[in-house]
Amino acid sequence: MKKVLFLLSAILCLSVTAALAVDGGALYEKKCAKCHNDGTHSSKAGGGVVLKGQGAEMIHKKLEGYLDGSYGGAKKKTMARVLGKFSPEEIKAMADHIGSM
Ligand code: HEC
Repeated sequence: MKKVLFLLSAILCLSVTAALAVDGGALYEKKCAKCHNDGTHSSKAGGGVVLKGQGAEMIHKKLEGYLDGSYGGAKKKTMARVLGKFSPEEIKAMADHIGSM
């Protein structure tokens, strides 16, 4: 009986951890793709930038730069506004996703 309870609680812990992990890919699809498509090109609203192929580290640096005002072009306010709604974990997860495109 003890063994069964132990197994049950282990499974429960694992599934809770999985649910809490941020899905950068899903966030990207929902919040970024309308301007940046699949990363190979951006709409006019997306400033025409190409995200694919930049690498997660570079993308993460740029996203943090938009937030602290140290990076960006003529439309940097657009990105600062978009990014203001996310936690640092979510931003990191999205950068990792873009890096894997
Ligand atoms: C409303 C349209 C819009 C949405 C939504 C949007 N972006 Fe952007 N993004 C832009 C624009 C415009 C730029 C260019 C800004 C500038 O002038 O620096 C940009 C630039 C970027 C850049 C920098 C590219 C480079 O090489 O300079 C990254 C990275 C980026 N966006 C990631 C994201 C992520 C991640 C999301 C989702 C959370 C997102 N964007 C959502 C419009 C958008």
